[in-house]
Amino acid sequence: MADRIQKIGVMGAGQMGNGIAHVCSLAGFAVVMGDISQDKLNAGLATINGNMSRRVSSGKLTEAEKETALGKITLAKSNDDMSDVDLFIEAATENEDIKNKIFSAVCPVLKDAAIVATNTSSISITRLAAATNRPEQFIGIHFMNPVPVMKLVELVRGIATDDTTFEASRTFVEKLGKTTAVSEDFPAFMVNRILLPMINEAIYTLYEGVGSVESIDTAMRLGANHPMGPLQLADFIGLDTCLSIMQVLYEGLADTKYRPCPLLVKYVEAGWLGRKTRRGFYDYRGEHPVPTR
Ligand code: CAA
Repeated sequence: MADRIQKIGVMGAGQMGNGIAHVCSLAGFAVVMGDISQDKLNAGLATINGNMSRRVSSGKLTEAEKETALGKITLAKSNDDMSDVDLFIEAATENEDIKNKIFSAVCPVLKDAAIVATNTSSISITRLAAATNRPEQFIGIHFMNPVPVMKLVELVRGIATDDTTFEASRTFVEKLGKTTAVSEDFPAFMVNRILLPMINEAIYTLYEGVGSVESIDTAMRLGANHPMGPLQLADFIGLDTCLSIMQVLYEGLADTKYRPCPLLVKYVEAGWLGRKTRRGFYDYRGEHPVPTR
């Protein structure tokens, strides 16, 4: 049963989707990557190429290994191209309607035995599963960003997820060379339940004028040995994603301690979503990032 997963479908070619396709192809899996936008699909493949080339330059990968991995990735022209995958991983925007639309379009095309996974960082696995035609074969496989670098994957069972699906998913993640941490299905699981309130608190610290962007990030980088400051990390994750995770915590746990900081809301309303829009707590449009406050 462990070898039942040979071919992977990834829906979404953004920073998470292309990262997932990257690590799957390097681990020897055949990958079909899909997206609603052909441009995003091409950009996703270019990102994988660029990230693998960097690893070739630093001697971590050979040119031949890179070419073999890239040769395993095909781009989906339509949902029908997902019909022979053994594991379908949804890695679209963190929006429940969009995810449900993807599952209702793709699940009928998949093989009966295919496992369906979501890379959601916070939405209920049980609720997403219930809206599909196979809640028993549905699971949360939550990768961290940047996927090629981060060693952890959270595995989240919905109430109906069966043991075969769970074990096959765990074996799959291990074959990627990653470590699993098993989380119960509660809002934002473990990593984001702990990480996002820390980031939100950093934004309150900025909002209340306790420190500037630079001093808050320096404080946490050098004072707590974090590889990135919390505001730098917020920009890296995407401020829209940060806000939607805080909203899931706030609504799902009904506790005011998870109230999203109004300053985070303001940045999202401005469309300043962090690195992906080249402006967030830092402005990335010049040669070096410049704090925006
Ligand atoms: N994609 C792919 N590879 C990347 C990358 C990216 N975006 N960014 C960096 N890398 C690779 C580099 O190529 C380099 O690889 P090699 O060692 O093979 O050459 C390696 O990562 C280290 O890169 P750098 O030396 O350039 O950078 P660094 O030492 O500053 O590390 C970092 C970069 C790994 C991103 C580090 O800053 C870090 O760990 N930051 C924190 C990341 C984090 O907390 N992620 C979790 C976010 S929360 C989440 O993902 C959950 C959610 O649902 C929101």
